[in-house]
Formats: sequence, structure tokens, C-alpha cells
Amino acid sequence: MTKRVAIVGAGPSGLALLRAFQSAAQKGADIPEIVCFETQDNWGGLWNYTWRTGVDEYGEPVHCSMYRYLWSNGPKEGLEFADYSFEEHFGRQIASYPPRAVLFDYIEGRIEKAKVRDWIRFRTPVRHVAYSADSGKFTVTAHNLIEDREYSEAFDHVVVASGHFSTPNVPDFKGFSSFNGRVLHAHDFRDALEFKDKDLLLIGTSYSAEDIGSQCWKYGCKSVTVSHRTAPMGYDWPDNWQEVPLLEKVEGNTATFKDGTAKDVDAIILCTGYQHHFPFLPDDLRLRTANRLATADLYKGVVWVANPKLMYLGMQDQWFTFNMFDGQAWFARDVIMDRIAVPSREVMTKDVVDRVAAEDAIADDYGAIKYQGDYVQELIDETDYPSFDVDGACDAFYRWKKHKKKNIMTFRDNSYKSVITGTMAPVHHTPWKDALDDSMACYLETDS
Ligand SMILES: Cc1cc2nc3c(=O)[nH]c(=O)nc-3n(C[C@H](O)[C@H](O)[C@H](O)COP(=O)(O)OP(=O)(O)OC[C@H]3O[C@@H](n4cnc5c(N)ncnc54)[C@H](O)[C@@H]3O)c2cc1C
Ligand SMILES: NC(=O)c1ccc[n+]([C@@H]2O[C@H](COP(=O)([O-])OP(=O)(O)OC[C@H]3O[C@@H](n4cnc5c(N)ncnc54)[C@H](OP(=O)(O)O)[C@@H]3O)[C@@H](O)[C@H]2O)c1
Repeated sequence: MTKRVAIVGAGPSGLALLRAFQSAAQKGADIPEIVCFETQDNWGGLWNYTWRTGVDEYGEPVHCSMYRYLWSNGPKEGLEFADYSFEEHFGRQIASYPPRAVLFDYIEGRIEKAKVRDWIRFRTPVRHVAYSADSGKFTVTAHNLIEDREYSEAFDHVVVASGHFSTPNVPDFKGFSSFNGRVLHAHDFRDALEFKDKDLLLIGTSYSAEDIGSQCWKYGCKSVTVSHRTAPMGYDWPDNWQEVPLLEKVEGNTATFKDGTAKDVDAIILCTGYQHHFPFLPDDLRLRTANRLATADLYKGVVWVANPKLMYLGMQDQWFTFNMFDGQAWFARDVIMDRIAVPSREVMTKDVVDRVAAEDAIADDYGAIKYQGDYVQELIDETDYPSFDVDGACDAFYRWKKHKKKNIMTFRDNSYKSVITGTMAPVHHTPWKDALDDSMACYLETDS
């Protein structure tokens, strides 16, 4: 009997697994029956932009956390698919920090080439997963939104690829309920022009704060004030940008910070991160982890220790993205196809403990990049995923960090060398701060 595999989510991680199975089939292997469930009406996960916030037309929570004018926040040379280069997709090398639409097109190009779209059931959220020790199978309950029909099917394996940057972490601060402006989370931010000429307060100091603040600055906000809980970001910010301690309270439009300083603001954006949220999983199958490089309870960062028939993709905090999801997907595929044997529970538990300890010993961001690069290398060494120069990709990230330190508003104007094809990216035709049109046509216009 052919095994059946359920994949939850057709974002970059779920699509990586579809491509992994299709690649095995292309090489002549007998592959299991694959069913990929996807809530949205298209693939691409977070990269599938929508103007909607809150709930969609079916009342489902909107997954998208991306916004207009979002450009890649790291060099594309750090995430390139080893089996599908940017040059293969675009017919030539392109600049290093593509806007969202360009990366969406690239993700789509590889999966279209694999011809697996009919493995995906769109508009079908997974509502519940249960495991029966007696049958050794999972029952997956899904909801066909178009027909408004819920149904259940049996599967031998379940792979959760539902992402973890969609359910916002929303702290409360004193005075929010009487603030005279808009309070929103980064998940619901869509267009920087909404904040043109406004004084903006951001809370949080990670990528969302850095990038949303930069967007709003680029599109003409009056000022950016960033409030930190732990430490300021410390970049050399433009003149109308300041970093302040944690927000203590808001009265009217006046925000007061822990050091007693105050600032009148028009809007507050909570850039306070996301939760790993799996409402469709029962207690015994549900991953509970912090957003870190070594997740809890996943052998090799993929296999659920308590029940190795369940796997998770993409649950780590991310320096590496698409190529790491590929490494994980090829590994998961090979576990499912019995090409890789999972060890005893004791060995798997020790693997998790060792990874956590190794991450805890990391001194700085450079060490963290190397740690995740080594993890990607480890995964691809165990599978037939095409080998590539992972150290070269780490190098691109190291240089990216230095470029940000040098000038946070020009780092996207730099170019890097592809670790897949060896060619150097061209310099983009317009500096990022002046490039207001983020369309694919504009981005590709005069690259040569
Ligand atoms: C604002 C923002 C900007 C980012 N920018 C970059 C960047 O510039 N470069 C980069 O490399 N990475 C970036 N990332 C990181 C991003 O996490 C990855 O690029 C990538 O999208 C993760 O892929 P994924 O498939 O694991 O998750 P997701 O992209 O989140 O996809 C998960 C999919 O699962 C589906 N799903 C969820 N629950 C269910 C369910 N119950 N049933 C069925 N389907 C379900 C969702 O609809 C979605 O399609 C960014 C993240 C955010 C939040
Ligand atoms: N392409 C792009 O340009 C782009 C743009 C945005 C986001 N992203 C991606 O999106 C992902 C998520 O990034 P993120 O910045 O949203 O989340 P994140 O990296 O998890 O950071 C969360 C931030 O919120 C702060 N925080 C959490 N709870 C808080 C509280 N109660 N009070 C004050 N501060 C609090 C944290 O502060 P502490 O340091 O004190 O914990 C941290 O600075 C990343 O993978 C990133 O790469 C990419």
C-alpha cells in the first residue's frame, strides 16, 4: 500500500517538500501519495501578498505579514535554491536585494517547473490532527472553504509547514485603550504612505522595527522613535530617528518612556514578534518553542521526537531561509521514504539538548550565522540535495551585516556573488532609498 503524506501549508517550506518528492520521482523512485493543504488561494505563504488584514473573505485569519514596498532584508545570495538559480529563472543575473514580487516570482518559477500544483488543495485549512497508536496513522480533518465542507482522511505522516511569523505577539501598555491614534501590530502594517508626515512610535528592535521604520522614513514620515526592551539597535540612523528605552505609558498622544523622556506620536506600531501557533494540533503533537535556532523537541530540527512520523519544517529563527527549508525538506522526504533511519528516542533527545547547548554557547551574530550554515550543510550532506558553497553563503551574510553597520539606509545597494552559479550580481539601477516603485517590471528594468 502506498504511504500517504499530509503537508500543512504551501509556503516556501511546504513547497520545498513538494519539490523534494517530485525530484525523487523524476529520478525514478516510487513516492508516497502527497496531499498539501493550504488555507490561502495560492502558494507562496507569507510572500503571497494581500491587502487584507484581520480575517479573509471566509473569516479565516489573514496569514500575510508582508507589506507593500518590502524588499528582501538579506542578500538573495544567502537563500538561492541550489537546484534552481536566479539566472535560470530570470535568464540573467539580477541585483542582490529583490522586492517581494520578484522573490515570489522566483519561488513560483521552481514549483511551476516541478508541475505539482495539483498536489495542493487550496482554500483548505487543516482544522485538526489526531494520532492513533493502534492504527499507527494520523487523522487529518480539513475544511474545504469553497464548498463549506469539513472532512477527515487518514495519513501515515504529517509534515507541519504552517510558518511561525503570522500570529502576532501583542503586549499591552498602559494607556493604549485611550490613545488618540492608531495602535497596530507589524502583522497588520501594509503601506508606509499611511504614515506620511506622521510621528511614529515603534516598539521592538528586530527586523520588523528596523524595516518598517526604514520604509516609513523612505516614504516620508515625520519622525521615527524606536522603543527597546533589551537594547537599542544602535545603527547610525537618519536625523529624524531616535532610539529610546521601553514605553512606560501613553496619555492622550504623549508616550512616556522608562527614562522619563516623552514624545508626542500619531501612531504606534508593535514590532514585537510572533508566536508559534498551531491551533490544529493537540497537546501531544504540538511544538512549543521559543523563536530560536535550536528549536525544542525536533531531532535535526525536523523530526518530532515523541512521534517521528510527525515532522515540522521551517520552525527555527531564520538567517538562512529557502535553502534551509530545502535541506529540511529533503531530509524529511528521506525519513518518510525510509532512506534515512531515525535513531532511538534517547539519541534524538540528546540531539536536541546538544543543539540547544551549542546555540547557547554562540558569542554573536556571526557565530549564529555560522551555526545555522553548519546546520544547512549537515542536512544536505545526508541527502541528494545539490551541494553548494554554504560557507560562501555565510560570507554573504557576514558582509551584509557589515554593510548594515556602515549605513543602514544603503546596505541594499550592495552586490554579492552567487554561490550557485559563481556570477556577481549587478548593482541595481537605483539606490534603495530612491526606488519608490517596487514592481517586478521596474526592478528588472535596466539590470544587465
Ligand atoms: C514581514 C516578513 C518579512 C520577511 N522577509 C524575508 C526576507 O526578506 N527574506 C527571507 O528569506 N525571509 C523573509 N521572511 C521569513 C519568512 O518566514 C520565510 O521567507 C518564509 O516565508 C517561511 O516559509 P514557511 O513556508 O515556513 O512559512 P509561511 O511563508 O508562513 O507559509 C506557511 C503557509 O502555511 C499555510 N497555513 C498555515 N496554517 C495552515 C493550516 N492550518 N492549514 C493549511 N494551511 C495553513 C499558510 O496559509 C501559508 O501559506 C520574512 C518574514 C516576515 C514575517
Ligand atoms: N524583508 C524584511 O525586510 C523583513 C521585514 C520584517 C520582518 N522580517 C522577518 O520577520 C521575522 C520576524 O521578525 P520580527 O522583528 O517581527 O520579530 P522578532 O525577530 O522575533 O523580534 C521581536 C522583537 O520584539 C521585541 N519584543 C517582544 N515582546 C516585547 C514586549 N513585551 N515589549 C517590548 N518588546 C518586545 C523583542 O525584544 P527583545 O530583544 O527585548 O526580546 C524583539 O526586539 C524575521 O525572520 C525577519 O527576518 C523581514
